[in-house]
Amino acid sequence: MMKQGKRLFMGAVLASVFAAAPALAHEEHSHGAADHANLTDDRKALKLEPSERAMLLIEMRQFLNGIQVMTESLSRDDLKAVANAAKPLGRAAMHEVPDSMKAKLPKEFKQFALAVHGGFDQIAMDAESLGDTKHTQKQVADLLKNCVSCHNTFQIQVLPEKKQ
Ligand code: HEC
Repeated sequence: MMKQGKRLFMGAVLASVFAAAPALAHEEHSHGAADHANLTDDRKALKLEPSERAMLLIEMRQFLNGIQVMTESLSRDDLKAVANAAKPLGRAAMHEVPDSMKAKLPKEFKQFALAVHGGFDQIAMDAESLGDTKHTQKQVADLLKNCVSCHNTFQIQVLPEKKQ
């Protein structure tokens, strides 16, 4: 009786874990090396030239670097350092993207990008004005949802570089 109760409980826990992370459950449904040969990447393709891809990936690594510094600063309740790391990743950074590249990016992609850049701005403002670690932690957690959503939706496909 006890044993069955425990098993049911674990079943419920597992069910809720998968329910909470539908994207993960979806991507981890294959098992073993054999299946990997048939794995396809069905995310929508952004068709970018090599230099555009390089630019996007530089920005991405800056995002990850910023998140790393912010998480570390939060562990020390250093909200000033959080603001300093978040600021350069805000909306102002979007002006660095050339118009020719912007024209290739789908609306949905731009919405995720705007949410993330705007999120960094908001985090920087609140970290400075409120100085509340828990509040900022929650904002960072919400921001990361946009990173996850965009990565689940898009991949890059490299086009031949255009002749200048
Ligand atoms: C608007 C869409 C979008 C948002 C928002 C986004 N990313 Fe990305 N990211 C991408 C795409 C597209 C790639 C390339 C994926 C591929 O081709 O498989 C990528 C790649 C990356 C990489 C790999 C970089 C490399 O050098 O290969 C990192 C790290 C990364 N993103 C971090 C982040 C973090 C952290 C956030 C949130 C703060 C974030 N991204 C938000 C679209 C996005």
